Amino acid sequence: MRSISVVFAILAANMWVVSATVQWKDSISRFSTDLLRKKYRNQQTQKFSTIMNRLKPALSKDPTDNPLFVELPMDHFSPDNKDTISCRYFVQEAYYKPGGPVIFHDIGEASIGPYAKGLVDEEEFSVAMAKKFNGLLILFEHRFYGQSAPSTATSRDLGKASKRQLSEFFKYHTIEQALEDVVYFAKNFSYDLEEYPKQTLTPDKTPWVWIGVSYSGARGAWMAKRNPGLFKATLASSAPVQLQVNFWEYFTAIEDALAISNKNCSADLSAAARWLSDAWENRDSSLVDQLIDAVYQEDWEEQLEQYDPDSEEIWDIRKDYLQDAAWTPFSDFQYYGVNGGTLGQFCDIMETTYSEKGDPAGVFATKSLARAVTAYAKAVAAISPYSYTSSRQRSQRKTKRQTTNNESIDDKLDDYSWLWQVCTEFGAFQVANTSRPENLLPSFINVQNSIDSCIGTFGESEQVSKAGPNVDPINEKYQGWYVQLSNTLWTNGQFDPWKALSVDSEEEDAPTNDTATTNIPQCGKTFPKGTQLRYVIKDGYHGSEFSEDVVKDSPGDVEGIDPTNTIRSLTATRTRTKTALTGTPVVDAINAQNLWFSAMSSWLPCTTLQFNLADSTPQTTTSAPFTSRTPYQTDSPDEAAQTSGSSSNSGDKQNTATPSLVIPSLMIPFFVSILAFLAGIRVLV
Ligand SMILES: *[C@@H]1O[C@H](CO)[C@@H](O)[C@H](O)[C@H]1NC(C)=O
Ligand SMILES: *[C@@H]1O[C@H](CO)[C@@H](O)[C@H](O)[C@H]1NC(C)=O
Ligand SMILES: *[C@@H]1O[C@H](CO)[C@@H](O)[C@H](O)[C@H]1NC(C)=O
Ligand SMILES: *[C@@H]1O[C@H](CO)[C@@H](O)[C@H](O)[C@H]1NC(C)=O
Ligand SMILES: *[C@@H]1O[C@H](CO)[C@@H](O)[C@H](O)[C@H]1NC(C)=O
Repeated sequence: MRSISVVFAILAANMWVVSATVQWKDSISRFSTDLLRKKYRNQQTQKFSTIMNRLKPALSKDPTDNPLFVELPMDHFSPDNKDTISCRYFVQEAYYKPGGPVIFHDIGEASIGPYAKGLVDEEEFSVAMAKKFNGLLILFEHRFYGQSAPSTATSRDLGKASKRQLSEFFKYHTIEQALEDVVYFAKNFSYDLEEYPKQTLTPDKTPWVWIGVSYSGARGAWMAKRNPGLFKATLASSAPVQLQVNFWEYFTAIEDALAISNKNCSADLSAAARWLSDAWENRDSSLVDQLIDAVYQEDWEEQLEQYDPDSEEIWDIRKDYLQDAAWTPFSDFQYYGVNGGTLGQFCDIMETTYSEKGDPAGVFATKSLARAVTAYAKAVAAISPYSYTSSRQRSQRKTKRQTTNNESIDDKLDDYSWLWQVCTEFGAFQVANTSRPENLLPSFINVQNSIDSCIGTFGESEQVSKAGPNVDPINEKYQGWYVQLSNTLWTNGQFDPWKALSVDSEEEDAPTNDTATTNIPQCGKTFPKGTQLRYVIKDGYHGSEFSEDVVKDSPGDVEGIDPTNTIRSLTATRTRTKTALTGTPVVDAINAQNLWFSAMSSWLPCTTLQFNLADSTPQTTTSAPFTSRTPYQTDSPDEAAQTSGSSSNSGDKQNTATPSLVIPSLMIPFFVSILAFLAGIRVLV
């Protein structure tokens, strides 16, 4: 296997090179994680304490400052293994009243720290649920994300860990283990409420409700199938339940959106993909090197002179940059679409490079290739987080406020952790399909390349193999997009690319023998076979009903709802006055929210629905795994020793390390403006 680390060692002295794995990982995480609501993402430091003043005294315990930890078995499926893993959660108790449900908000593939801010925001969907239904709201951190992983020498410095250390560390990071975590958590859950006598909050005595988006939405669906009755109601939002390795269909939603009002950009992005594919396949470096020089890497062409410019290793490095360039326009489409997000900005910059109005046919069709590539490079430079411009902004931000980000054990834990899941079980590689004329990605963004990156990061093992992610067991066990669930609301965004893997998929091979309804079945009644409660949010994106504010005092308050009624007409009754900092508000998200409130009103008080918990023996109320404030998990003594001695062997470790975490141009002087960097290509303009 070709190893980029060799090149890395050769070149590192002279230039800062980005590693294949980091670029690729970043693409993955840009697409799959970060479901933080728009406003928290944009205003990281602001605290949304809209309710702090009028809350019950109990909330003097600010939930956002009170992380709790639970000890769970590391390996649920072999009783001999006594290792444990400590998972973090937060509880918002301010709205709880006896008889209210436990609302379990599963965050999935991310640290929950940043989400905790939302626990004191009444416009947050989950908080609104707790308020309407007198619920106890739990924010749960998935194993191996944030602080919910063993703190070891490996996890504290993932960049230095060897492949073997990484695959050993992540061994129990599987979909099934993580689902069982929740079963264990729920069945043993207890919580002291100062205001009330001891409540039994386990799912046999208190209805539990699952809410989740994306991977955590799929987890909700899998849980409903796996442990029926454990949760009395499930909201599976934007849930990609049909796992597949090659997920080129991701881009069809983007193609469709571009075709509506950006035909010029659509044509140009396809042309750029074809140009990049050709340049790669013919090993034609001319314009490619100018692009890299202009966007990412100072004096790239001069530096190349010292090496054989046509060697495969140099082409691997070129590929890293080109991958980033090719991903850049689409990086936040799934949250904001074309006009609210970077794709719209990208298009505007590219299309207006040579004239204010642009040409309806686009730049690739009307200008020389060099000029078209210049327009493309200009847009990448303005938007890529790895370009000179961005690194300059980043470094300025850094010096302004020295942020100590110790939210996770290692800053990169969430990225590695999700990459592990993608490489082992989840798949969904967002790749090119060059046989389609509308294709938007260059041919080197393909499944094989993705699998190589997996192996390049984790090595080959039982879980990471040349055959790629093993998606079949989960699809077989949970029936993919054929799964039929009662007491579950499925929601999807009309333009969300992940919809293609959901029960609302319109792909060719998607189910056709099923029916969507917005009629909530009456208490005790089930759906006709093949019919499920589903709602596609008009103009919506990934998890829109979670990222939009809940309108205060909206219809759907518990008192006003007759649970036996079905929802007849769903219309947005008000338009939003507030606009998120980025993106256009998705008005129809309110209807999804209200449909869910109605479904909860129908299902929660309902006693005739089947509620067949396998194990319904009364739980002890003082269960051992819960402590009110478990300190952050500490090292076992031998690991601590390893760490303290690490200075002596770190050199040794570095040799085996994956070449990662070097972000290009971070170390580059930032005094030169992007226009100066564009000079190389600008000459051609
Ligand atoms: C927690 O729940 C599991 C069942 O999922 C059970 O086997 C275990 O004994 C419980 N632990 C405690 C301390 O109650
Ligand atoms: C060309 O693209 C720009 C930017 O995306 C867009 O605003 C404009 O409407 C397009 N023009 C035509 C004629 O399609
Ligand atoms: C995070 O950093 C702060 C300040 O440096 C420190 O007080 C705190 O204990 C750290 N938290 C963890 C979980 O390491
Ligand atoms: C590419 O798209 C075509 C449909 O245009 C489809 O038939 C084919 O299976 C896709 N290729 C791959 C590798 O999935
Ligand atoms: C729809 O078709 C699939 C595949 O043939 C089958 O497994 C499933 O049970 C069918 N569903 C219904 C509701 O008939």
